[in-house]
Amino acid sequence: MSLPAHIAAKLFERKQTNAFRTLNIHEGIDFYSNDYLGQARSTIIFEEAHELVSKLKIKNGATGSRLISGENTLTRQAEDYLASFYKSDSSLLFNSGYVANLGLLSTIPQRNETIIYDELVHASIREGLRLSQAKSQKFKHNNYNDLETKLKKIEGIIYVVVESVYSMDGDQCDLEKILYLCEKYKAYLIIDEAHGLGVVGKEKKGLSYNVDHPFLLARVVTFGKAIGCHGATVLGRTDLKDYLINFCKPFIYTTGLSPHSVATIMASHQSFSPTETNKLYENIQYFKKVVEEYKLAHQFLASTTAIQGLLVGSNDKTKKLSNSLQELGFAVKPILSPTVSVGTERIRICLHSFNTKEEIKELILRISEYLN
Ligand SMILES: Cc1ncc(COP(=O)(O)O)c(C=O)c1O
Repeated sequence: MSLPAHIAAKLFERKQTNAFRTLNIHEGIDFYSNDYLGQARSTIIFEEAHELVSKLKIKNGATGSRLISGENTLTRQAEDYLASFYKSDSSLLFNSGYVANLGLLSTIPQRNETIIYDELVHASIREGLRLSQAKSQKFKHNNYNDLETKLKKIEGIIYVVVESVYSMDGDQCDLEKILYLCEKYKAYLIIDEAHGLGVVGKEKKGLSYNVDHPFLLARVVTFGKAIGCHGATVLGRTDLKDYLINFCKPFIYTTGLSPHSVATIMASHQSFSPTETNKLYENIQYFKKVVEEYKLAHQFLASTTAIQGLLVGSNDKTKKLSNSLQELGFAVKPILSPTVSVGTERIRICLHSFNTKEEIKELILRISEYLN
């Protein structure tokens, strides 16, 4: 049976615009994964997780929703540990960052309330907005005059949604300014720390770590990035957790995380170390220094984080550059439109604590040779 004609036409258009996505395995020097601290490759974490999971009676699956049979001592222990690790009243685990954002945003803001979000927020936040009964409007990226103009005009309950570090551009939000505006206009803040953890903030635990503010409603931390495994948590007051347990459908109507995943989350947090965050910081500094030396700074988006966006400018050109770097042994991926807007297609270089200075220098040299 063939696909309906309009669906087939959309797929055809993807191919025509050179934006067709395929699943590939890449080998090479890792400049593409979100494993910023190298925790995904740690045998110590792997073994510690195995030991933790072995203590449970049920080992291979959660066996049901957390509200039915999926609750176990390990999950409780992990949430207590995470609450204390992130200095939060409570932690609620979700099966992924995508589901956490979708669940939180579709559950908390109610009909006749308004969500204002940065125009560059992640797709999972946008999907939450689509499912929410609240109205929503975007403000210009990191433009707090625009945010204030919008806040002034809105009546009723407002939620502001931002990311600490933006996933495609690698730049940061100005949390202090945002919290000032939230307080001034009595708006609740939700912050996604997916790319902030391990990279920014006190102890590198995210920009909002250790920020005690009455309008900071929720922090979303995902574990597929610097923590190197899977899953996510929503951090906030205990009554926020209670509300989500009672009303958040993407939490309620799904099988809980597997005990293996929960054990890996625990072990990965226990291994989170300043040694690795410092190495990552040094590599970011080194990368920027070499980019300057090769006079390539104008090609890159402004970023002081692990995400460095090399702007290329069309799907075709970006793919060609990325293929060429792959042939030279670098694992890099092109980020194409429509994932980013037309004209801003790029190679999203991810830096890690484990990248060597030689690897970084070689990558920049090869980029320079290609572009000049
Ligand atoms: C900012 C941001 N939030 C949420 C997510 C989703 O997290 P996860 O991969 O755990 O589903 C991502 C993943 O790319 C992200 O970049």
